[in-house]
Formats: sequence, structure tokens, C-alpha cells
Amino acid sequence: MLISTVFLATIAAHCSATYLYVSSYAGNVTTLSLTESNGTYSLQTVAQNALCAPNPAWLTLDRSHNRLYCLNEGLTSLNGSISSFALSRNGSLSLLSNVSTINGPVASVIYGTTPNRAIALAHYVGSAVSTFAIDDCSNGTTSPLQNFTFSLSQPGPNAARQEAPHAHDAVLDPTGQYIIVPDLGADLVRVFGMDADTGVLNEETPLSVAPGSGPRHAEFYSPSGLACENCTLYLYVVGELAGTITAYRVTYPAAGGLAFEEVYTTNTYGGGALPAGIAPAEIEISPDNRFLIVSNRNDSRFGIPNPDPNNSTSVVSDSLATFALNADGSLAFTQLWPAGGSFPRHFSLNRAGNLVAVALQRSSRVVIWQRNVILGALTSVVAYADVEGQVNTVIWDE
Ligand SMILES: *[C@@H]1O[C@H](CO)[C@@H](O)[C@H](O)[C@H]1NC(C)=O
Ligand SMILES: *[C@@H]1O[C@H](CO)[C@@H](O)[C@H](O)[C@H]1NC(C)=O
Ligand SMILES: *[C@@H]1O[C@H](CO)[C@@H](O)[C@H](O)[C@H]1NC(C)=O
Ligand SMILES: *[C@@H]1O[C@H](CO)[C@@H](O)[C@H](O)[C@H]1NC(C)=O
Ligand SMILES: *[C@@H]1O[C@H](CO)[C@@H](O)[C@H](O)[C@H]1NC(C)=O
Ligand SMILES: *[C@@H]1O[C@H](CO)[C@@H](O)[C@H](O)[C@H]1NC(C)=O
Ligand SMILES: *[C@@H]1O[C@H](CO)[C@@H](O)[C@H](O)[C@H]1NC(C)=O
Ligand SMILES: *[C@@H]1O[C@H](CO)[C@@H](O)[C@H](O)[C@H]1NC(C)=O
Ligand SMILES: *[C@@H]1O[C@H](CO)[C@@H](O)[C@H](O)[C@H]1NC(C)=O
Ligand SMILES: *[C@@H]1O[C@H](CO)[C@@H](O)[C@H](O)[C@H]1NC(C)=O
Repeated sequence: MLISTVFLATIAAHCSATYLYVSSYAGNVTTLSLTESNGTYSLQTVAQNALCAPNPAWLTLDRSHNRLYCLNEGLTSLNGSISSFALSRNGSLSLLSNVSTINGPVASVIYGTTPNRAIALAHYVGSAVSTFAIDDCSNGTTSPLQNFTFSLSQPGPNAARQEAPHAHDAVLDPTGQYIIVPDLGADLVRVFGMDADTGVLNEETPLSVAPGSGPRHAEFYSPSGLACENCTLYLYVVGELAGTITAYRVTYPAAGGLAFEEVYTTNTYGGGALPAGIAPAEIEISPDNRFLIVSNRNDSRFGIPNPDPNNSTSVVSDSLATFALNADGSLAFTQLWPAGGSFPRHFSLNRAGNLVAVALQRSSRVVIWQRNVILGALTSVVAYADVEGQVNTVIWDE
């Protein structure tokens, strides 16, 4: 009896379950459960709902309040929407609120402190930034706070993609006092300050980036860690249209706003020739603060064995590029590796940094790569799940 109890406890210690939330343009938000036992992983769908329909495009987890926010891009309607969900232990999501927004929300970030927390949305098609107050005191519903809409007097150098401003991401700075919004259409990184007592944003002087580069997503990096106050700070910006990563030194002028100085730029292929039509998308810094990873869509340079054992056709794959971060903001190319399929629009690392989940939009698949934390290198696919439609975001809930 005693022996079997010890045996069961040992088994339990070697098993762990984790959820991943996935959004797909086909209409569902899907909860996947990742379990691991003695080095073997299993990825299963445990819940699905259409409560962010018709076109879920982005997810923001609010772990401290047990909530998930989902943006419906509204691909065929005049409006988008933001749904807030309560999380549950079994992975199912229950709707708290669904509120109409300006069209085309594609990214969001939570800011402020209770009771004045809010969420800021970047709108691609709607050429806008909007904010919604989060009701932390009752039930996590959101209500409209502000709308900023932008226009261009003339198209940018890439007239087809830069015919209008296209806000593409929203990122909080490490002090929690500014939100930056890369605008692919306007070649700007917009900067917003905030009133901590109301959550109201105010526009500050934006950063102008290389004309035609099409800033899409961005990440802050401090060589001493983001929690380090007044330490050297950089912002890495992915230029989707030029296939670039550019580093800016960021400082805080006494007069307010943010100041930027360009210190480094490279292409998203580690300096190698960029394939025609390449469209980098997501950028993330590893939890150990040592590596930067960027996803390349539409390069199709890799062919990998099909992870489905019943399918012998090899899978055409785009790539993920890894760079080591240097204290002066420059990058040292480390690895170019298959993403696991087509159009890695989004990816995210788990807390330990040893697993990378990739949302493969044109493969309708989520793939989990093992990652060597010491070398900062991807190694092998440990699990995958097919999810209907164009999957566009995958985030961890550990
Ligand atoms: C959405 O999820 C429901 C419930 O699992 C399922 O019946 C439906 O086929 C899914 N639809 C899409 C488009 O994925
Ligand atoms: C665990 O995995 C190792 C290596 O693959 C294998 O040798 C061992 O038999 C496995 N143990 C159990 C309990 O499955
Ligand atoms: C949420 O609101 C949007 C915009 O009003 C609407 O189009 C959508 O159908 C709503 N979603 C649900 C699940 O009710
Ligand atoms: C839907 O979008 C249109 C056009 O942007 C806007 O005028 C209208 O107020 C929006 N409707 C709702 C319910 O938000
Ligand atoms: C999952 O948890 C939720 C909330 O606690 C509950 O309403 C639902 O019935 C559960 N679903 C399953 C399949 O157990
Ligand atoms: C949440 O609270 C607000 C304000 O108290 C209320 O208007 C709304 O109906 C509530 N919604 C839900 C889903 O409980
Ligand atoms: C912003 O626009 C949306 C969509 O038109 C609308 O529902 C919302 O009320 C607006 N917000 C404000 C603060 O006016
Ligand atoms: C950071 O700088 C601000 C403004 O100069 C100063 O008030 C604060 O004390 C500094 N913090 C640290 C930890 O040095
Ligand atoms: C992918 O790249 C090819 C060139 O290799 C280009 O013709 C095509 O338009 C690109 N597709 C997308 C969706 O960017
Ligand atoms: C086998 O894999 C190929 C490449 O990913 C895919 O195009 C094809 O649809 C798969 N076949 C089946 C039967 O799943």
C-alpha cells in the first residue's frame, strides 16, 4: 500500500498540465491542454467557443485576474469587438462582456492599476488606437474610454500596404507609463502617455522609422532586465515590409514622452539574403533575457518531416530566426530554423523558455518546438494540434 502511494506520487510529480489559448479567423477560441510525461508531450483540444466570433485575431491573458481578452477583427463587417472571458480550471472560457470597437483590432495591452485599469487596442483596418476601461470591481467587463483615429496625407513608399495608417501592436514600456504602437502604414511608432488616475491616454511625439519599412511588432529590452529602474533600455522594432529588426536606445526626457536613438539594424534572416515576399511578423525576447526570436512568414525555405505519423508528405515551412542580445543593443545571429509550417503569424515561449508554441496561419496548426535554453536554439517538434481556420495567436497559461 505504502509502495503504491509512493509510486503514484512519483508519477504525479513527472506529469504536468498547461493550457494554451488559440485564436482562429474561422471563429473559435480554442483551449489546448499540453501534458508531459517522462519527456513525451501530448497536445489536446479541451474547450472551444465562438464567443469572439466572427474573426478572433488576438488574445491577451490577464492571469492575475483570471481573465482572457479576445479581439474580433471583424474582417467582413464595419466593426470589430472585444470579448472578455473568465478562465476556469478545466480550460473552458465563460463570456463576461462583448463590446463593439472601431474596425480591425489586431493587438491589445492591459495598462494601469486597479481600480483604473484599461486595455489599449491597435486597429489595423480602422487606422486607430482605442482604449476600454476594465471594470475590476465587479465582473471584468469593458467599456469605451477613448478613440484616436489617424490619417495620412499621402501613401507611404509601399503604396499598396501603406495607403493608410495601420496600427499593428500595442506594447507597455517597462515603467508602465507609456504605450508604444507600431504603425505599419505610417512608418511610425506612436507613443502614448497616460493619466494614472483615469487611464486616459495622451499622444506624445512618435518615433519615425525607415520609410517603407512597415513597423509591425516591437519588444523592449534592458540588458539588466526590464525591472531595472533607469537602466539602459532598447526597443526592437520589426519592419514587416523591409524584413528588418531595428534597435533604438530609449530614454525618458525630463519634459515627458520618450526619446529614441537608432543604434543597430539587421534583416530578419540573420544578414543572409532575404527571400522575395518575406513578411516577418512576431518578435519575442526569451525569459532569460539572452535571446531575441523573430518569425518569418512566406519564405518557404524549409521542408520538414510531417509531424503526423500517418502522413508521409513533407511539410513546407517558413522560419524562426534567433539572435543573441548584446549589451550595446546589437544582435548576433544564432539560428535560422523551420517554424513548423506556413505563416508563423505568432509564437510564444513558455515561462521556462524550453518550449515555443507557434501559430501557423496557413497550416491551420499549432506546433510546439523544444528549445535548448543554454544555446538559445530550437531542436525538435514535441507536439502539434490542428485547429480549424487561419490560426493567428497562441499564448500560454501555465
Ligand atoms: C468551433 O467549435 C465548435 C465547438 O467545438 C465546433 O463545433 C465548430 O466546428 C468549430 N468551428 C470552427 C470554425 O472551428
Ligand atoms: C522514460 O523514458 C526513458 C527514455 O526514453 C525510457 O528509457 C524509460 O523506460 C521511460 N520510463 C517510463 C516509466 O516510461
Ligand atoms: C460581439 O459584438 C460584435 C460587435 O457588436 C458582434 O458583431 C458580435 O456578433 C458579438 N459577438 C457575440 C459572440 O455576440
Ligand atoms: C460601427 O462602425 C461604424 C463605422 O466605423 C461606426 O460609425 C459605428 O458607430 C460603429 N457601431 C458601433 C455599434 O460601434
Ligand atoms: C468547466 O468549468 C466551468 C466553470 O467552473 C463549468 O461551468 C463547466 O461545466 C466545466 N466544464 C466541464 C466540461 O467540466
Ligand atoms: C457586469 O457589471 C455591470 C456593472 O455592474 C453590469 O451592467 C453588467 O450587466 C454585468 N455583466 C455581467 C455579465 O454580469
Ligand atoms: C469608439 O468607437 C467604437 C466603435 O465605433 C464605439 O463603439 C465607442 O463607443 C467609441 N468610443 C468612444 C469613447 O467614443
Ligand atoms: C530613476 O530616475 C528617477 C528620475 O531621475 C529618480 O527619481 C529615481 O530615483 C531613479 N531610480 C533609481 C532606482 O535610481
Ligand atoms: C509570398 O512571396 C511571393 C514571392 O516569393 C509573393 O509573390 C507573394 O505575394 C507573397 N505572398 C504574400 C501573402 O505575401
Ligand atoms: C499530409 O500533409 C500535407 C503537407 O502538410 C498536407 O498538405 C496534406 O493535406 C496532408 N494529408 C492528409 C491526408 O492529412
